[in-house]
Amino acid sequence: MIIEPRTRGFICLTSHPSGCEQNIIDQIEYIKSEGTINGPKKVLVIGASTGFGLASRITSAFGSQAATIGVFFEKPPSEGRPATPGWYNSAYFEQEAHKAGLYAKSINGDAFSKEIKRQTLDLIKADLGQIDLIIYSLASPVRTHPETGVRYKSVLKPIGSSFKNKTVDFHSGVVSDISIEPAVGDDVDNTIAVMGGEDWKMWMDALQEEELLANGCKTVAYSYIGPSLTEPVYRKGTIGKAKDHLEATAFSIGDALKSVNGEAYVSVNKALVTQASSAIPVIPLYISLLYKVMKEKGIHEGCIEQIQRLFQDRLYSASTPTDDQGRIRIDDLEMRDDVQAEVAELWEKATTETLPNIGDLKGYEKDFFNLFGFLVPGVDYEKDVNEMVEIKGLQ
Ligand code: NAD
Ligand code: NA
Repeated sequence: MIIEPRTRGFICLTSHPSGCEQNIIDQIEYIKSEGTINGPKKVLVIGASTGFGLASRITSAFGSQAATIGVFFEKPPSEGRPATPGWYNSAYFEQEAHKAGLYAKSINGDAFSKEIKRQTLDLIKADLGQIDLIIYSLASPVRTHPETGVRYKSVLKPIGSSFKNKTVDFHSGVVSDISIEPAVGDDVDNTIAVMGGEDWKMWMDALQEEELLANGCKTVAYSYIGPSLTEPVYRKGTIGKAKDHLEATAFSIGDALKSVNGEAYVSVNKALVTQASSAIPVIPLYISLLYKVMKEKGIHEGCIEQIQRLFQDRLYSASTPTDDQGRIRIDDLEMRDDVQAEVAELWEKATTETLPNIGDLKGYEKDFFNLFGFLVPGVDYEKDVNEMVEIKGLQ
């Protein structure tokens, strides 16, 4: 079929297999070009199909020749209806891994559930024995608790008072004022239940109980901080409370891992266009200004550059530098004083009229469509493409 982008609000309803394939190939080429990382050998990535999790899987496989098991929640294709992009990403990641002689298998389902954990543990036991790196990179709006069956929904709200600021609709380029009402009732607890650290700890406890963790193993979950501009809606809002919880969980997991000489980290990553971040109000405007400033300074990175640096310079270097709260910081370039000062200045000036010049709205839009395999250089979108792509190592 011929597949074109169809958008609704912050999402794209279609995705292009060949564009997703090209994205995978480009990321693999980047990793290879950066040379070998003396990294992990057997890796589990939870949230492996898009964004930072996918970049972690590619970096493990093509930077360190690691065997990878990827867990994700994606929709397969049906006749005439493309899959979600993470499905195609995983299919083509596996294709390239298998070509390179690397073990790669995938599990598609709810990572929060007992069933998917059980299936993953059994697969590790059968195929890999023990694993030495666990990447936790889920971004989900909902979680059904495995013990109680309660379904929690996360919200993106400020805490205490309403937040008024500007935002941009990156499809139309219109900058407008928004006001977001503060969290009420169980909003904070619900958001912590979805995006906090409880599920990460459950995974690690289950792996450890069944002796599937190699001596010296590492685990990493991803967090975000960002500037004071977005603080009310991000770091000091409901999602920030969940990230506080996630970061605190790294310490309890770290304590438990001492018996296998393991380490648990949170890595604070840069703001990037992903399916998760495009749904957060205010963030797209911030990102479009940030991209402009960082590109002009020659320090812009995408997910793959970020994770390559995480592995090479932090996790698998002679020492793992952290901040005073024990976090790995690969948001160091984003948070540089000169970068933040320029973004803050541009923020004041941002209107519908000025944004095309002072911000990188084009770069934002391109990255957004790229997530779905569209606007990818080198892909012929006029060409008939088979939407019914299989993931060969799907369990
Ligand atoms: P993403 O939307 O690209 O990836 C989310 C992944 O989680 C996908 O693989 C998806 O299939 C999987 N997933 C979602 N629900 C699932 C479920 N129930 N079961 C199994 N898999 C499920 O998101 P991302 O931006 O790469 O986010 C990953 C992590 O990085 C999050 O913790 C996020 O907060 C963090 N982070 C993101 C940014 C950013 O700007 N995008 C910055 C810093 C940190
Ligand atoms: Na991810």
